[in-house]
Amino acid sequence: MSRQLHLGLFIQETGHHIAGWREPGAAADAARHFRRQIELAQLAEAACFDLLFIQDSYAMRGANDIDALQHSARAIHWDPLTALSALAMVTQRIGLIGTATTTYNEPYSLARSFASLDHISQGRAGWNLVTSNNEAEALNFSRSSHAVHGDRYARAAEFLQVVKGLWDTWEDDAFVEDKQAGQFFDPSKLHVLDHHGQHFAVKGPLTQARSPQGHPVVVQAGSSDTGKRLGARTADVIFTAQQRLPDAQAFYADMKALAAGAGRDPQQLLIMPGLLPVVAATCSEAEDKFQQLQARVLPAVGLATLATTLGEVDLSGYDLDGPLPDLPPANGPQSRRQLLIDMARRDNLSIRQLYQRVVGARGHLTVVGSAADVADAMQQWLEEGAADGFNIMPAQLPVGLRDFTQWVVPELQRRGLFRTGYEGQTLREHLGLQRPAHRHAR
Ligand SMILES: Cc1cc2nc3c(=O)[nH]c(=O)nc-3n(C[C@H](O)[C@H](O)[C@H](O)COP(=O)(O)O)c2cc1C
Repeated sequence: MSRQLHLGLFIQETGHHIAGWREPGAAADAARHFRRQIELAQLAEAACFDLLFIQDSYAMRGANDIDALQHSARAIHWDPLTALSALAMVTQRIGLIGTATTTYNEPYSLARSFASLDHISQGRAGWNLVTSNNEAEALNFSRSSHAVHGDRYARAAEFLQVVKGLWDTWEDDAFVEDKQAGQFFDPSKLHVLDHHGQHFAVKGPLTQARSPQGHPVVVQAGSSDTGKRLGARTADVIFTAQQRLPDAQAFYADMKALAAGAGRDPQQLLIMPGLLPVVAATCSEAEDKFQQLQARVLPAVGLATLATTLGEVDLSGYDLDGPLPDLPPANGPQSRRQLLIDMARRDNLSIRQLYQRVVGARGHLTVVGSAADVADAMQQWLEEGAADGFNIMPAQLPVGLRDFTQWVVPELQRRGLFRTGYEGQTLREHLGLQRPAHRHAR
């Protein structure tokens, strides 16, 4: 059988396109009514998706421009770990990945939360480790500014080391629960971490048993050089934004080589770029659909979305139909900002043309066409060394997910590129990832 794709549903409550919430079939209330999330999760599970993924920010994105923000649906969203715990109860097989930042959390509490989610979901938990791409988060955590990029990653690396150490507090068979003998656990199978590092001093032990997957799946989504090196050394899955096949191939080859260089099996590191599909019965119908969405974007919202994606830069005062100005260095996310600057320079885009490209997929791949067109692109990226799967980003929800599951998934299945039923139980099993041995395994 040919190599198969892995599919994730990247949930943005009202859809990824900034104007998606204004479409007639869109659930504009999705960040207030949890049944909408349940509907999405069950739809994705019925289509055999490997996972669903919830992004996060500890601050409102674009809050410095309320005039623009009031016209988009991005001001409110669910807390990932709370939402995923609830979704675990109404799904059986789909993986549940939540974002949590290492910049404004502590390793002990996150280790415990994700281990708990892994138990609650019977082995379906994953953590999207980020260093926070929203500088305003600092202001909600008693700090006056966001830590600098290199420091954020240094903290992230040690953070993850501590979390993994805490996940190995208990060996898998530590809990004997021998009622007769009155022995609850075997003390030789308890390992106290006692970590003393540059950023953290964490004694342990963790008050949660080793979880079904051993370690919940770890996802890394930073694509700067520092982000890539951390992901290659430590992550199971890389989420990334890629626009063009050659760039995606270069990123893929680089990540696999970095993983091999770090002594890992490159097949145990999966690369999943984002993909915003706009699909309809014919290519021209899909194009019409996309143009309708684009036409609903108010210029102020488009400009604000661009400014936020570039790292809260100030673009007011520039001619919308002029070129993107040279931007001063920023401390926010590096790779996405560079991707957009490169795109603007390469394609000679005005600010307006650049925001028109960003309001949908924010720098991820967009494919507009029939089911066969979308499947062709996915197949090409899989077979030509650019992706192990995709994070699907419907433009509007739930309609865009329904379109994808009704049209594209059967097309992928016909081509033998996607499963028709779950074989495994855990997220690691869906992804073909090994269960990590305990660090003290004998
Ligand atoms: C698919 C995807 C999802 C992401 N989700 C989040 C998120 O929810 N919260 C966040 O702070 N950053 C998120 N990021 C951003 C990165 O994790 C990272 O913080 C940012 O790219 C800066 O890293 P870099 O400078 O290494 O590129 C996401 C990135 C990608 C590709």
